Amino acid sequence: MDSTTLQNARAYEARHGAAIPAAERPAYHLTPYVGWMNDPNGFSYYQGKYHLFYQYYPYKTVWGPMHWGHAVSTDLLHWDYLPAALAPDSPSDKDGCFSGSAAQLPDGRQLLLYTSVRREEQPDGKTRDVQTQSVAVGDGLDYVKLAQNPVLDETCLPEGFSRFDFRDPKIWQEPDGSYSAVLVGQGKTEGGAALLFHSADGFHWEYVTILDASRGEYGVMWECPDFFELDGKQVLMVGPMEMQARDEFHNGHCVIALIGSYDPVNHRFVRENVQLMDEGIDFYATQTLQAPDGRRIMTAWMQAWSGISDQPHGAKWFGQTICPRELHIRDGRIIQTPVRELDAAHGAHVLHENVRMEGETALEGIGGRVADLRVTITPEGKECRAFTIKLAADGDHSTTLTYEPHTRRLILDRSQAGFHQDIVHLRSCTVRGQSDTLSLRILLDRNSVEVFINGGEQTMTACIYTPPEAERITFAANGAARITVEQYSLAL
Ligand code: FRU
Repeated sequence: MDSTTLQNARAYEARHGAAIPAAERPAYHLTPYVGWMNDPNGFSYYQGKYHLFYQYYPYKTVWGPMHWGHAVSTDLLHWDYLPAALAPDSPSDKDGCFSGSAAQLPDGRQLLLYTSVRREEQPDGKTRDVQTQSVAVGDGLDYVKLAQNPVLDETCLPEGFSRFDFRDPKIWQEPDGSYSAVLVGQGKTEGGAALLFHSADGFHWEYVTILDASRGEYGVMWECPDFFELDGKQVLMVGPMEMQARDEFHNGHCVIALIGSYDPVNHRFVRENVQLMDEGIDFYATQTLQAPDGRRIMTAWMQAWSGISDQPHGAKWFGQTICPRELHIRDGRIIQTPVRELDAAHGAHVLHENVRMEGETALEGIGGRVADLRVTITPEGKECRAFTIKLAADGDHSTTLTYEPHTRRLILDRSQAGFHQDIVHLRSCTVRGQSDTLSLRILLDRNSVEVFINGGEQTMTACIYTPPEAERITFAANGAARITVEQYSLAL
């Protein structure tokens, strides 16, 4: 094993990551120490801290041979960087340590289960990436890969499944101390599928069953699966690739939750409902953990694969995670709210109650780029055609949220947010329910906007590249509306 690959990455990030001023990063969203980040990995609570690893290429702000970056936190908002945990340096993962997850072993060590990638020449002369699963064991800082890796390969796959699309293990511990993991695979008839595996000790794995599959309906392949119980329902969360636009789904990558019931004896998952997890632009590769207090908390990559070619000029990092969200089920659907740790960070409070609006107005004390903003809008009669909240605005820039009461459409437009290319900048969703009043909670953090609609029934998430000086927030009604606006600054 060539450990210099990891040592080099650690030395590089210690020098170049530490040199990035805190003001050039978001205040409470995790960014890579330096270079590139995609999926969050190994999201876990271990030895008194939350651990968050991530798909990482330290040397450039583009995707490259995948390492695992590593950070820890006690409140899910402030993250301390630890040295990179994994590098592509062993025979089974020489071409990449892809996504995976973490669990605790009975002896107190932490187990990382991840996808090991090996480029191989095929009989037709072409090279392709073979994906297997490997483990590394560590103490929360340093991890040693198992000499017997990989622990799962194509021989463990059901009939007709591809060895080139077999990845992203999400592990959890069963009540009896054994381990289960859900992975994604691609079957000839199933398309993208969630495969269940079991292990007595975390090292020896066997295939159990197919939990559910796309079968042409939800994309061509799935990525980053998760499988957990939530408020009496069972949730299978996956990231479909090449989804076809219909209903609330847009083309390309997205995250869906398949919500249903599960019989753990026969390993039978029965799907009842499918929900799009975020209706904005930048949201992919979710992963959840169960906190010591029982909360199911989700993180995700706050970036769209289709937007990676457009990067802020001069930035030394690219990619960030969402503000972690607490998940619940209400009326068969997932509700998402920012982790309650954010409430503890609340600073100055400004409230404008029941203000009648016509035209565009700024409100005293409402503005800034790091804030927790709540806006309740009640249109006055049919004459109110639209209501717009302008965020991160100056003379040249803005990101807008426009609500059209007559269609119930909420439109997120970041086309003036400092981007350079014609990637997706506009997305809209139909606000669920019947109520005339719309309530939005908007998290602003320098380079992003996260919108929670009507208590988190729907969310819209997007990155913005707007210069930090663009701090204005204004409200405008086409017609008349009554609004209540409440802003907390965040003391972080
Ligand atoms: C999802 C993904 C995973 C894979 C990783 C590679 O964004 O494609 O399926 O493990 O990224 O970096």
